[in-house]
Amino acid sequence: MIVESNVPLQPYNSFGIVARAQHLLRIADEADLVALHADAQWRDASRFVLGGGSNIVITGDVKQLVLKVEIKGLRLVEETERAWIVEAGAGEVWHDAVEWMVRNGYPGLENLALIPGTVGGSPVQNIGAYGVELQDRFESLDAYDLETGRSFTLDAAQCAFGYRDSVFKHVRSGPNDFGLAGRAVITRVRFRLPKPWKAVVGYLDLERKMEESGNFTPSAQDVFDWICAIRRAKLPDWRVLGNAGSFFKNPTVTPEQCADIIARDPKIVHYPMDDGSIKLAAGWLIDACGWKGKSVGNAGVYERQALVLVNRGGNENPVTGGEVMTLAKAIQTSVYERFGIRLEPEPVVV
Ligand code: EPU
Repeated sequence: MIVESNVPLQPYNSFGIVARAQHLLRIADEADLVALHADAQWRDASRFVLGGGSNIVITGDVKQLVLKVEIKGLRLVEETERAWIVEAGAGEVWHDAVEWMVRNGYPGLENLALIPGTVGGSPVQNIGAYGVELQDRFESLDAYDLETGRSFTLDAAQCAFGYRDSVFKHVRSGPNDFGLAGRAVITRVRFRLPKPWKAVVGYLDLERKMEESGNFTPSAQDVFDWICAIRRAKLPDWRVLGNAGSFFKNPTVTPEQCADIIARDPKIVHYPMDDGSIKLAAGWLIDACGWKGKSVGNAGVYERQALVLVNRGGNENPVTGGEVMTLAKAIQTSVYERFGIRLEPEPVVV
């Protein structure tokens, strides 16, 4: 087991923030986790599991032992009349895994193309876009419990998926609580891709693509290509302009709260949810407060999507985690003062 010291984390986080891991261990397969559990010096160290680093804000050098998950592998594990079950190693790049599945005839995840990050991060966040959430295509996952030294498998119910949420985002706080943050490392994820495949094209941007192209019976490859084009037009590529995707979750309010806001701001973007609550577009709220294109130090609000905070200093003079959080707090304050809504950040602050 080789624990590396003083490792630069700038290449491993999509904001491009400069920081170091005091100690970092690469996990290429499960044997590395078994070795860690058996190691007297490191087994009880506090840990931070790093996937693609696309949903984190690093605010200083990381003192915890960073576990960098690099487990590879993509394969069809089962095909039935009703679905393809595909398994991917947690360290696979998410977009490459989606592309591999579409190309090899296992469609179903194309609406989630170009989401940054790794396969292992996808259930943690329950990633979602353009009408599909990971939980809609999830079969099961394998993980390793660093406290007990045991491997285990979870199905969707056991992952307790919510909107950008799962059991992996919560720290266990009592005997009846099943939080797995900092404790479990996801090693492999299996996807259930239903047959026959059906395009999910109800989202406005996709309807527009159908109209423009005159193609109303798109293949999975067509949807994949459209999603890539839509995202490239609207969201910054983190390799060019550092960012962590949507910085805040879309908040939900009661119908009464929503009616109250509509009375003052008739144009507010809102979507009724199945449970009777109303989801608001955080990007619209931030935009309405005049934040689009503004900056605090090297932290900026993206011009084309106010929900995305970006690194304006590039690799030369990169944004700091402190600047990102200062900007985030200023946005939260102004949205609260104007709408009475508390925006909740999506990324993990380290
Ligand atoms: N809007 C504005 N101004 C802005 C941004 C948005 O008025 O600056 C309005 C838009 O015009 C639209 C509404 O707000 O009417 C919603 O915007 P959009 O369709 O871009 O979606 P979103 O709610 O901002 C969510 C996800 C994205 C996902 C898209 C597409 C969250 C927090 N974000 O964004 O996910 O790609 O829908 O499905 O749920 C991510 O989580 O990192 C992410 C990128």
